Amino acid sequence: MAQFWKPGTEKPRLLEDEDGGVIFLSSSYSSSSSGYGYVSIEKQRQRLPVYKYRTAILYLVESHATTIVVGETGSGKTTQIPQFLKEAGWADGGRVIACTQPRRLAVQAVASRVAEEMGVKLGEEVGYTIRFEDISNPDLTRIKFLTDGVLLREMMEDPLLTKYSVIMVDEAHERSISTDIVLGLLKKIQKRRPELRLIISSATIEAKSMSNFFLSSKRRQALEGEELRPGLEPAILSLEGRGFNVQIYYVEDPVRDYVQAAVSTVLLINDKEPPGDILVFLTGQDDIDAAIKLLTEEARSNGKNSSGLIILPLYSGLTRAEQDLIFSPTPKGKRKVVISTNIAETSLTLEGIVYVVDSGFSKQRFYNPISDIENLVVAPISKASARQRAGRAGRLRPGKCYRLYTEEYFLNEMSVQGIPEIQRSNLVSCVIQLKALGIDNILGFDWPASPSPESMIRALEVLYSLGVLDDDAKLTSPVGFQVAEIPLEPMIAKMILSSNELGCSDEIITIAAVLSIQSIWFSAWGAQKELDEAKLRFAAAEGDHVTFLNIYKGFLRSGKSSKWCHKNFINYHAMKKVMEIREQLKRIALRLGIVLKSCETDMQLVRKAVTAGFFANACRLEAYSHGGMYKTIRGSQEVYIHPSSVLFRVNPKCVIYHSLVSTDRQYMRNVISIDPSWLTEVAPHFYQQQRHNPTIH
Ligand code: CDP
Ligand code: MG
Repeated sequence: MAQFWKPGTEKPRLLEDEDGGVIFLSSSYSSSSSGYGYVSIEKQRQRLPVYKYRTAILYLVESHATTIVVGETGSGKTTQIPQFLKEAGWADGGRVIACTQPRRLAVQAVASRVAEEMGVKLGEEVGYTIRFEDISNPDLTRIKFLTDGVLLREMMEDPLLTKYSVIMVDEAHERSISTDIVLGLLKKIQKRRPELRLIISSATIEAKSMSNFFLSSKRRQALEGEELRPGLEPAILSLEGRGFNVQIYYVEDPVRDYVQAAVSTVLLINDKEPPGDILVFLTGQDDIDAAIKLLTEEARSNGKNSSGLIILPLYSGLTRAEQDLIFSPTPKGKRKVVISTNIAETSLTLEGIVYVVDSGFSKQRFYNPISDIENLVVAPISKASARQRAGRAGRLRPGKCYRLYTEEYFLNEMSVQGIPEIQRSNLVSCVIQLKALGIDNILGFDWPASPSPESMIRALEVLYSLGVLDDDAKLTSPVGFQVAEIPLEPMIAKMILSSNELGCSDEIITIAAVLSIQSIWFSAWGAQKELDEAKLRFAAAEGDHVTFLNIYKGFLRSGKSSKWCHKNFINYHAMKKVMEIREQLKRIALRLGIVLKSCETDMQLVRKAVTAGFFANACRLEAYSHGGMYKTIRGSQEVYIHPSSVLFRVNPKCVIYHSLVSTDRQYMRNVISIDPSWLTEVAPHFYQQQRHNPTIH
């Protein structure tokens, strides 16, 4: 191992544990289960660093409108603070304590953990809500976990969020787009509801800027001569770091294939290092599945030592049972290897991790307002993220972190902080949500970090072309209000509304449901050929959207059989989710007065409805090079059909894509062929020479 790995020269930032094993559960931690086995849940709670601060937190919340809590991942912020508040009476009198998370999986995981700690049934006193899944009860739920996106939706019904006494905006350092919008809006709500309490919690780093954000409003108010209420200035509480020392190792030379490198590193650790679980950071389902396959194969051919490996993926979209495996204790004599996206960076704490393998990458959204292209890109993480990842190894005892990049790269090339998502996203959804909440002056909105004016103009222009905003950049009636009410991206919402006029709402709602989950295919695990053959059985000449309809029909015809799914490489859980989402969309559609109607075999109507929503993503075939080179009609950007699409190598003249992913090239995912003449029909403003520029307010 010494040949390949070089210990880092920088002193690890993580603090030594100060009072010796506060959270050290058992001396032989190798079997990470035994610790918990002997310790009651109440004892476990008391051992968390946050426990010492219980009184301080309750005092600050009582006396300050906003409290910022900073503490290492795993110190108990998310699971304990809502319980402290509840115990102190903040949920009395029918009030509710809210705790938001940027990630859906984290919402589910922490809610079930808190319900377990409180000994209550999930969905009653402790509940959660994520999009398309509401496990809460308006009469019973006192502590509610929800995504920040769902909290935004709730503001449409109840702009002052009156049922909540305290709102904890968790994981604020992640700076997700919804977190930023929520923070800006909560600041406004606080002025109208001085009794509302905010807790902003974060796993380090951004605390200062967060506090400045809330401070600046104070200053502004002072300038405007408004009298300052006591406690308006946010309180900051820093929970002492409790991490153990983590020794960092770097590769000596840059690695070419981080999946392969991660797998070799896991095997090396397993060979040479004492017991303790391993956490590997990769970027998404695709490379995680690839790593699992490789690791399983290599471990098998490697023989002796690898039988003790329990290899588990961790990414959004896992089923409940799969999630439980992640959190269940490692059996004696075994070693867990969790291969995760950056969800394990701060959102979820896994017990028992002693070794971290950090690829140095994560999947990030990037938007270029000039080319009007938004991409999901595998991009280098920041130093702040790298430190967080390393910290995951030092929770229970001193750990080791293996970085699959060189020290020189870390020191000289990695950026210090990530860029807030709002500054690298398409703002179409964000703008419509603010408009629906009555925020007209979007550029003048009090953002924790301002989005670029170019992105804002692009978003306004697309919304204008969708018929969602009028000349004064106000929501149109009824289309604008209807689109805002559908909890999906505005382009999908518009596609659904158009399908009503075209008479294909039954089909389009199915398509919308499929597009809102990650993938309905089962990961190939080395069976790419079989997967491709299965796809061919459903492939429609029109493209992926129509293919989804064929799959959906097949699934229904099979009696929703899991066997049928298995045979056809379709993910049964994903299909069940599609059915659920479809039911919910049906209810929303009915509420909006959309009558469910099938167009039977007339797929032209389906394609037209897709065009009505996604015209901005239209591309024209330019050349047959590299299997078919397309250019976006509006921005002339080079794009290619993704190999997973049924239209790969079919190359229709004109297509519309649902999303782009970027690796060596920009690839279009979920593609449908269209007739270019439809574009000027559905979006004349967008595609005519002299484009209308909507006014910006
Ligand atoms: O929010 P923060 O990172 O500060 O900590 P937390 O998520 O509240 O985690 C506190 C403790 O609860 C950790 O020891 C976690 O391992 C444990 N936990 C768990 O066992 N299962 C979960 N689903 C969530 C947390
Ligand atoms: Mg947390």
